[in-house]
Amino acid sequence: PAEDEARVDEIKRLLEANNAVLVAHYYTDDAIQQLAEETGGCVADSLEMARFGARHEAETLVVAGVRFMGETAKILSPEKRVLMPTLEATCSLDLGCPADEFSAFCDAHPDRTVVVYANTSAAVKARADWVVTSSIAVEVIEHLQARGEKILWAPDKHLGGYIQKQTGADMLLWDGACIVHEEFKAKGVEDLKSLYPEAAVLVHPESPAPVVELADVAGSTSQLIKAAKELPNDKLIVATDRGIFFKMQQAVPGKTLFEAPTAGNGATCKSCAHCPWMAMNALDNLAGALRHGSGEIFVDAELRRAALKPLERMLNFQR
Ligand code: 13P
Ligand code: SF4
Repeated sequence: PAEDEARVDEIKRLLEANNAVLVAHYYTDDAIQQLAEETGGCVADSLEMARFGARHEAETLVVAGVRFMGETAKILSPEKRVLMPTLEATCSLDLGCPADEFSAFCDAHPDRTVVVYANTSAAVKARADWVVTSSIAVEVIEHLQARGEKILWAPDKHLGGYIQKQTGADMLLWDGACIVHEEFKAKGVEDLKSLYPEAAVLVHPESPAPVVELADVAGSTSQLIKAAKELPNDKLIVATDRGIFFKMQQAVPGKTLFEAPTAGNGATCKSCAHCPWMAMNALDNLAGALRHGSGEIFVDAELRRAALKPLERMLNFQR
């Protein structure tokens, strides 16, 4: 619509005027992803977003995603102004892991190396030895296991369980989950697979174990897009937030993509596989943030120093 076009033009002008760059996650609106692409920003998974923001020379990073992504950008680049379309966009994993309870859990298990998923608050990261995202989690835990370390993992029990299975590491798991991925049902994926036996199944490991077990490839959002390109299959069943279809379909224009069902009867739930917090990012509030400097992320200096250590470990990790 003409309104959106005017908004897009305004955002482009404001990005330039503010020496700002747009960093967007694959789960945000198509229009935001397209804008990030057209303006020299990036559309990426959470690890690549962090790397891109830290390396970019812009004075202002506009992070379209959820709160932990903006916080991570600020922790890595305290000298930059970090804006988000809305500060309300949180994540069920972050909400399900309050810093004080988590800290008590760590205190009760002092013999364990604390590894937290990036989907956590700065305060939880500050208590960790390592931060990981789903694209690097298995490698980091393998590395720690090889050093004989026992792990305390938080907050996603499904991702934790998946890593445990892959690596055989001794992991104590926090009981958290992603409300979006938890809705995928193995029965639904099996039913769809019986309709299209030639289809490959791509699954984000925040999904429950029975769904991950059906996967031809399990991985982070960018790993799933890569797999869509590399697999020979013309049909793909995809168990992750439907926001990913924008870039995935661009990457494989000739292939047919199916949303993995979120109901056991094989029906696709039209409103389920989309993160309600990612959906809060829109052209309007994005323009508003740039216009008024609203939605700015601040991280307490001491907290920042503590959270930076485990984040830098992740960014510097090389096998
Ligand atoms: P990725 O690191 O795979 O982009 O995952 C982030 C996320 O929030 C998935 O729900
Ligand atoms: Fe958090 Fe799940 Fe939303 Fe990702 S999709 S931001 S893990 S609630």
